[in-house]
Amino acid sequence: MSDINRSILQLGNPKLRQIAQPVENPHHPDIQQLIDDLITTMENANGVGIAAPQVGMDLQIMIVASRPTLRYPQAPKIDPIAMINPQIMRQGTEQMKDWEGCLSVPGIRGYVPRAQEITVAYLDRLGIPHQQIFTDFVARIIQHECDHLQGYVFIDRVETTRELITEEEYHKLLVA
Ligand code: NI
Repeated sequence: MSDINRSILQLGNPKLRQIAQPVENPHHPDIQQLIDDLITTMENANGVGIAAPQVGMDLQIMIVASRPTLRYPQAPKIDPIAMINPQIMRQGTEQMKDWEGCLSVPGIRGYVPRAQEITVAYLDRLGIPHQQIFTDFVARIIQHECDHLQGYVFIDRVETTRELITEEEYHKLLVA
């Protein structure tokens, strides 16, 4: 079976606000297919992360795929990692604010505080457990995607709505 581009739900769709359920069997063909589809959908949309609720699936699955961007030129290039049933076990006390966007919130960026360092426990797509430390941009992506599994989007995390801006204004900031 080949992977399929799925449509990405937009802000306002109640499925984005559900709490996702744990995956019982990562080996199930439907789960493996969903992971492939999520990676394809994310890459087609030029994203660095995606979570299953964004394609209407009520499951604790997310993809993390950092690469250097205009805003984060130092970001590491990492092949897409599927994280199943992820849990943030520990958050560092240092918070950093930076701009985020989301495939489900087109045209908007927000200045979001996140922990600079996190420890995450998850199952990979083979069902193998991992516990790893992530920092900076990758830690930000993981916190953003974990939020999707709890029914949150990044606009819920800004300290003030004054720190929500349009994509067009965001690009002006980048070249300023
Ligand atoms: Ni998102």
